[in-house]
Amino acid sequence: MTRIKDKGVAGESLRHHLRAATMAAHDLLDHAMQAASGWQTRSDYARFLGLQHAARVPVEAWLAEHAPADLRPPLQTPLIARDLSALGTGLPPASPPFDPGYTPSSPPLAGVFHVKHSALGVAWVLAGSALGNAAIGRQVKRIGDGVWPMAFLGDAAMMAFWQGLRARIEGEPASPAEAAGATQAAEAVFAHFLGVADGGQVPERQAESTQS
Ligand code: HEM
Repeated sequence: MTRIKDKGVAGESLRHHLRAATMAAHDLLDHAMQAASGWQTRSDYARFLGLQHAARVPVEAWLAEHAPADLRPPLQTPLIARDLSALGTGLPPASPPFDPGYTPSSPPLAGVFHVKHSALGVAWVLAGSALGNAAIGRQVKRIGDGVWPMAFLGDAAMMAFWQGLRARIEGEPASPAEAAGATQAAEAVFAHFLGVADGGQVPERQAESTQS
């Protein structure tokens, strides 16, 4: 599934900016996850959930430690764990720690961003993924004859969080600092997920890359 193309330009909303900046990364991740697991069979679906769990654990942990409450999306890993258990599959090991200051395209971090801007970018990626999850969920429901567990893909709380965040990032144009910090962090989340989908390789953590 390829996302609708749009271009982010100066003065556009933060959402447009983030979408434009990460479009290629998202498409790469979409393809990598379909190649690594897909969701065509029950065991594909279990593998897909395992990748999602492994990737999300450290990202949720980073948000829990650094993000203000309104930028902490509802936890998805407990829902994924519940789905995996219903499928009779154990939890995979978590991926290495997540650092929103690191992306392969810009190591080491050129600047130091405000942690709130980073949190916004991280929250956007996790919450925005609810859109893809809804689309995947429709497929999984059909392929699994409606009996495969879908606590994660069908999470209404995440979709509600997404609607709130969307309103926030579609409002005023972002400040350059906010856009830069959120974009860097969003790129880092995509890189982190891509590392997991590609076989456990995630960018090395770079310490002390954000400050409050
Ligand atoms: C596994 C395969 C995936 C598929 C098939 C997929 C598909 C989609 C689709 C259909 C949309 C929305 C439609 C559109 O923008 O035109 C979307 C948006 C998005 N997805 Fe994915 N996605 C996948 C994985 C992911 C993952 C793993 C993440 C997060 C790590 C993610 C993050 C996002 C974000 C941030 C948006 C945009 C939100 C916005 O519009 O502001 N996606 N995806």
